Amino acid sequence: MSTLIQHGTVVTAASTTAADVLIENGVIKEVRAGIPADGHDVIDAKGMYVIPGGIDAHTHLDMPFGGTTSADDFETGTRAAAFGGTTSIVDFAIQARGTRMRDALDTWWKKAENKACVDYGLHMIVTDLGSSGLEDMDEMVDEGVASFKLFMAYPNVLMVDDATIFKALSRTAKNGALICMHAENGSVIDVIVAKALAEGKTAPIYHALTRPTRAEAEAVHRAIAMAEIAGTPVYIVHLSSEDALNEVREARDRGVPAFAETCPQYLLLSIEELERPNFEGAKYVFTPPLRTKENLPKLWDGLKHDHLQVVSTDHCPFCFEDQKVLGKDDFTKIPNGGPGIENRLQLIWHHGVNTGKVSLNRFVEITSTAPARIFGMYPRKGEIAPGSDADIVIWDPNALHTISAKTHHMRVDYSMFEGFQVKGNARTVLSHGEVIVDRGEFLGKAGRGRYLRRTARGGAWK
Ligand code: URP
Ligand code: ZN
Ligand code: ZN
Repeated sequence: MSTLIQHGTVVTAASTTAADVLIENGVIKEVRAGIPADGHDVIDAKGMYVIPGGIDAHTHLDMPFGGTTSADDFETGTRAAAFGGTTSIVDFAIQARGTRMRDALDTWWKKAENKACVDYGLHMIVTDLGSSGLEDMDEMVDEGVASFKLFMAYPNVLMVDDATIFKALSRTAKNGALICMHAENGSVIDVIVAKALAEGKTAPIYHALTRPTRAEAEAVHRAIAMAEIAGTPVYIVHLSSEDALNEVREARDRGVPAFAETCPQYLLLSIEELERPNFEGAKYVFTPPLRTKENLPKLWDGLKHDHLQVVSTDHCPFCFEDQKVLGKDDFTKIPNGGPGIENRLQLIWHHGVNTGKVSLNRFVEITSTAPARIFGMYPRKGEIAPGSDADIVIWDPNALHTISAKTHHMRVDYSMFEGFQVKGNARTVLSHGEVIVDRGEFLGKAGRGRYLRRTARGGAWK
């Protein structure tokens, strides 16, 4: 079975070329101009960009959190991802305290089995090293779980202490995995939160007002310092503020292998959203919170200059009507998280490429190639070259689209970007050479997505 994508402009992180792409048995066979059509299924990509499928390295599907479960499961979430041009995700399994990581891995494999529409990898959230946690980490690496998330926030739920963080970091110096850090000083934040509640401050806006950017910057600084002592890289997830970005930049300027991602919500939305009337601010309650407007251009600048390497979504949807309302009288009970898995490429293209904030090649790098490298999937993913999986998006730079909960495919009753108009959208999406989305129609199947066994020490820091 062979497919030829003809007459498009192939864009990778490194180059932009007029070329055809020949796919055989789900893998890219040849990339060059003038490949003859003979016998192949032909897809005409005239006037289109041909880019590697997007990789969202931070999603939470079917995740128990905040007294409820995130609204998208592996079927609805990965189908929505595909509509937006994302062909691989890396989700998070959670080790429950006092249990083995193997149990969590089995649980999350079951959640994804027969459901995932695109390929999926898993990070492991470590909540407890116990007596066997370090050996468990090695076992996870052998299973293709090449990264772990640790929390410096959410005391008594997910937060771990510095000793645990340092032990885990030190283990990755040996086994080559990467620690992803939720960097906020949870102990300090908890004191600020308790004071706010005691003063009767219960509305959604206090979620943001009780989590200062210094609490994020301090934790980023501490995480990087501990990684330096352990002699290993570290990856900061969902970085939200200039304050925190300065810590990453300062470390990278010293040659430290510190990496960081941000998300569309931090690039495009600001703290005022949490003041929406009728409790609608709860739609924008996630952690870290939205920041003041001055932060936004600094984050775009960070992406442009490689102080930030990746744009992920932190997709963690909770419906407004029956989930966000859990915190109607107390902002600390609002399930933390927001939806976005479908809109990442559209938003970064429109607000990044169309405005000249990021180049075409940088767009591909931050949405696909860099996460593939950092998380041990490159060059199988994130590349258009012979031997790579044929996960390809045919991108129409002129397509107009209005983002709305009325038309999106995520199983959630609101959009954080309701009414945003974008120019540029995925026209045709291929996964392993199979067309799974074409002109707004889903042609894939639940369960076709494969587990991504990722390689430790992806090599990005060499
Ligand atoms: O509010 C958020 N970000 N929810 C998902 C969990 C996390 O911290 O990433
Ligand atoms: Zn987090
Ligand atoms: Zn997250």
